[in-house]
Amino acid sequence: MAYQTLTVEIDDYVALIRLNRPEALNALNSQLLSELGNALAEADQNEKVRCIVLTGSEKAFAAGADIKEMAEKSFVEVYNDDLFGAEIDRITATRKPIIAAVSGYALGGGCELAMACDFIICADNAKFGQPEINLGVIAGIGGTQRLTRFVGKSKSMEMHLTGRFMDATEAERAGLVSRVVPATKLIPEAVATARKITEKSLVAVMAAKEAVNRAYETTMREGILFERRTFQALFATEDQKEGMAAFLEKREPQFRDR
Ligand code: CAA
Repeated sequence: MAYQTLTVEIDDYVALIRLNRPEALNALNSQLLSELGNALAEADQNEKVRCIVLTGSEKAFAAGADIKEMAEKSFVEVYNDDLFGAEIDRITATRKPIIAAVSGYALGGGCELAMACDFIICADNAKFGQPEINLGVIAGIGGTQRLTRFVGKSKSMEMHLTGRFMDATEAERAGLVSRVVPATKLIPEAVATARKITEKSLVAVMAAKEAVNRAYETTMREGILFERRTFQALFATEDQKEGMAAFLEKREPQFRDR
C-alpha cells in the first residue's frame, strides 16, 4: 500500500518504515498514526517481513504529537475519540519485533512512540524528552509509565516536570536505549541488528517478545510462570529440535518457523 506520511522498504526480511513529514519534524498527526498502524499490521501479515525497523529523519525521529492538529480540540472531542488510545494500541499489538532507530529529536509522543517499540538504538545526536508540561498538558501516549519503567522515578519525574531533554549518552547510561551509534551508522546498524533477528525462529522470537513484555504487565510470579510455560511449549516446535540438533552437530540451524 502507498502511504503519504511514511515510506516502507522491505529487503531481506526487514521492513524499514520511515516517518516522513519533514515539514513538521515528523509530528504525529492522525493520518501518520493511522498509516503507521496500517503499515505495521501489513508487516505483521507479510511473510517477507520478520523484523521491523522504525525510523524518522536525521533531524527528528518525531517531535511529538501534532500540536497544530490538537490545539483547538475540546475535552469532549479528545475523550470521545479516545485521542491516541486506539492508535498506540495498534502499534503495541504488533507481534513481530520493532526496533526504533532514533536520530535527532524524540520528544513527547515521539519519545513515547520509540518506547512503545521493542528496543531503541539511537544516534549520538539523539535527544529524548517529554516536554508536554510546557504546553500545559502531560504525556498522553504512555510516557509517564514507560519512561519511569525504563529510567526510574527520579529521572522520569524530572523530565516530565521540567521538560528537559536527555542526550544519547545519558539515555544509554539510564537504560532508555540499548545502544548509541554514530549518526551516519544508525540505519546500517539497526538493519544489521534486525537481520540477526530474522535468522532466528520466528516462533521463538515472537514468544521471547511476549515474555519480555510480560515483565511490564504483571507480577514477577505470574511473569516467571508465563515464561516457564512458554519455554516448555516451544518444545512442541520443530525449530526447537532443529536448533538443539544443529548445536550438537556443530552446524548452523535451518529454522522453518514451525
Ligand atoms: N507539532 C506540530 N508541528 C511541529 C511540532 C509538533 N510537535 N514540532 C515541530 N513542529 C513544526 C514547527 O511548528 C515548524 O513548523 P513551521 O516551519 O511551519 O513553523 C517545523 O516543525 C520545524 O520546527 P522548528 O522551527 O520549531 O524547529 P527547531 O529546530 O527550531 O526546533 C524542536 C525543534 C525543539 C523539536 C521544536 O520544534 C519543538 O519544541 N517542537 C515541539 C516539541 C513538543 O513540544 N513535543 C510535544 C508535543 S505534545 C505531545 O506529544 C503529547 C503527547 O504525549 C501525546
